[in-house]
Amino acid sequence: MKVTVTRTPAEVKEVIKDWKKQGYSIGLVPTMGYLHEGHGSLIKKAVEENDKVMVSVFVNPIQFGPNEDLETYPRDFDADLKMIESLGADMVFHPEPSDMYASDFSTTISVAGVSENLCGARRPGHFNGVCTVVTKLFNLSEADRAYFGQKDAQQLAVVRRMVRDLNANIEIIGCPIIREDDGLAKSSRNTYLSSEERKAATVLNKALCAGKQMVEEGEKSALTVKLRIEDIISKEPLAKIDYVEITDWNSIEPVDIIDGSILCAIAVYIGNTRLIDNFIYEV
Ligand code: PAF
Repeated sequence: MKVTVTRTPAEVKEVIKDWKKQGYSIGLVPTMGYLHEGHGSLIKKAVEENDKVMVSVFVNPIQFGPNEDLETYPRDFDADLKMIESLGADMVFHPEPSDMYASDFSTTISVAGVSENLCGARRPGHFNGVCTVVTKLFNLSEADRAYFGQKDAQQLAVVRRMVRDLNANIEIIGCPIIREDDGLAKSSRNTYLSSEERKAATVLNKALCAGKQMVEEGEKSALTVKLRIEDIISKEPLAKIDYVEITDWNSIEPVDIIDGSILCAIAVYIGNTRLIDNFIYEV
C-alpha cells in the first residue's frame, strides 16, 4: 500500500483524526532521515506492534548547536520514502522547519539532571531541542507507542524521564543498536567518514566489547573499565576521545562502583566526525 506523505501539522492531524475514529493503535518513529537499517529495525517493530505507523523525517534545527552539522547533515528523502514504504509504514511526516516553528515560537521542554552529563554537557541545548520536537511529534501523532534506538542511549533516558514526569500518554520502546558486520554502530553520520576513517571507526565497538567483557567477568571499578576503554581507543591514531563515561542507566549520573544497571557511553572523534556508541549492562 502506498504511504501517505504529510508536510504540515494540519495534514498530520487530519490523518490521525481518521485513524483515531477507526480505533487504530498508532506507532511513531521519529527520525532525522537518511535512514539506515537501525531506523529500519524501529519501523519494522512499530509495524508489528501497531495498526498504523507514522514515521517523521525532520532534521530538527533546534537540536543542533551553532558549530554543528545542521547544514551538512545528510538528506535523501526519496530513498527514505522508498524504505519507509517497503517496510509497511502508513504515513511519513516531512515538514519544513517553518511548519514546525513559528517565527515567534517560545516554548522549550527542558529535562534537568538526566540531560546534563555526557552529550548534554558537550552539546548545550541539544536535549532541549530533542525534547521539544519529540513532544510536538507525540502531540501531533497521538501515538500509543514511540520507538527510539539505544545508540542514542542518553536521548532514550531523557525521553523516558520526560514522559514519566509529564504523565505523557505514550509508551517509549527502546530498540537495540544495529551494527555493520565489522561492529560499527549504524549511523547517518558514518557517511562523513573517509575509507581510512571508516576502518579506524571500528575501534569504538572494539573498546566497548573489551569493557563489556570486564564487567561481565565481574569487574566492579568503573575507573578500571573506563581506563581500559580509553587505552584501546588511544592506540588508534585517527581517534580522539570526547568522553568515556560509566553512569547509572536511569539517572545518567556517573558511578564509581558498577552495581545495578549501568550505561557505558563513549563519544569519539574520528577525524572531524563525532561518533557515539555504548553498552548497557543490566543486573
Ligand atoms: O534521534 C534522532 O534522530 C533525533 O534526535 C530525533 C529523536 C528524531 C529528534 O529530532
